[in-house]
Amino acid sequence: MPAARILVVDDEEGNRRLLREILEPLGYDLREAADGEEALVALAESTPDLVLLDLMMPRRDGYSVCREIKSDPRTRLVPVIVLTTLDQMPDKLKAIELGADDFLNKPFHTLELTTRVRSLLSLKHFTDEFEHASGVLQSIALVVEGRDRYTGDHCRRLGQYAVRIGKLLGLGQEDLETLWLGGIFHDLGKIAVSDAVLNKPAPLTPEEFAVMKTHPSVGADLCKSMRTMDRVLPLIRHHHEKLDGSGYPAGLAGKEIPLLVRIITAVDVYDALATARPYRKALPHDTCMKILREEVSKGWWDRDIVAMLDPFRHAATSNLELPSPV
Ligand SMILES: [Fe+2]
Repeated sequence: MPAARILVVDDEEGNRRLLREILEPLGYDLREAADGEEALVALAESTPDLVLLDLMMPRRDGYSVCREIKSDPRTRLVPVIVLTTLDQMPDKLKAIELGADDFLNKPFHTLELTTRVRSLLSLKHFTDEFEHASGVLQSIALVVEGRDRYTGDHCRRLGQYAVRIGKLLGLGQEDLETLWLGGIFHDLGKIAVSDAVLNKPAPLTPEEFAVMKTHPSVGADLCKSMRTMDRVLPLIRHHHEKLDGSGYPAGLAGKEIPLLVRIITAVDVYDALATARPYRKALPHDTCMKILREEVSKGWWDRDIVAMLDPFRHAATSNLELPSPV
């Protein structure tokens, strides 16, 4: 396994040298930055496995660097240990708010330093493993989608539509990410549905429809052991529920169906109508909206969310730029 890369950010040369003397003999690959600006350059060149970060520095302070690290999707899971002579709680709280993972007061104790470094690096290792597993699962979701030769880029398009509605509703970053993942993973359970059923150019028999109806539960069960998918599970499991309780798999009704689920459901129905299916051609936007409004009247979909689908007239026919979604 390659040596863990640690970026040391401190304006005092003596501190950087001391950290190098302690950590290099333990096999870590150390890089140094003498202030916040140099730290950002080093972070742009390569992503470290851990950052040891001083707070008070010229040009750009540690708070700002910490904020940059934790707001960039590429580096936000990199652990940050803040090195400070400040023993005042407000400064520590500010660093915690910005996402710092741990603290060390200067002058630091060698054993305390090496213990915290080792423990955060092992956490980072597990995070990397998870990222890999999550990436594999995402690839599987897209392969499953690819089997359904009529849906094209359905999952990513769904994620985009859902995020756009989430933004119109003023939802926060966490909800927008959940909507994006809901778009990608909602039909993962179709892995359990045969190609013959998935691509049947005619209405399904009751038996075939019963198999098709298992896909939300199958998909949710596949993802339920991943704690980071907790917020996405309801979107996968319940994206075929209807507000009047006539959907599946649980027959949830009204307020039992969370807002994010209603969003995914509405954009899923819209996209199903707006793209070609095995048994019919793609419908024009106005026809899709007419059908959706009729189904709102039947008590199936959320009226306000369906109303927000109207600006998709152009998006549905243009070449959508794919994300960065949020
Ligand atoms: Fe589905």
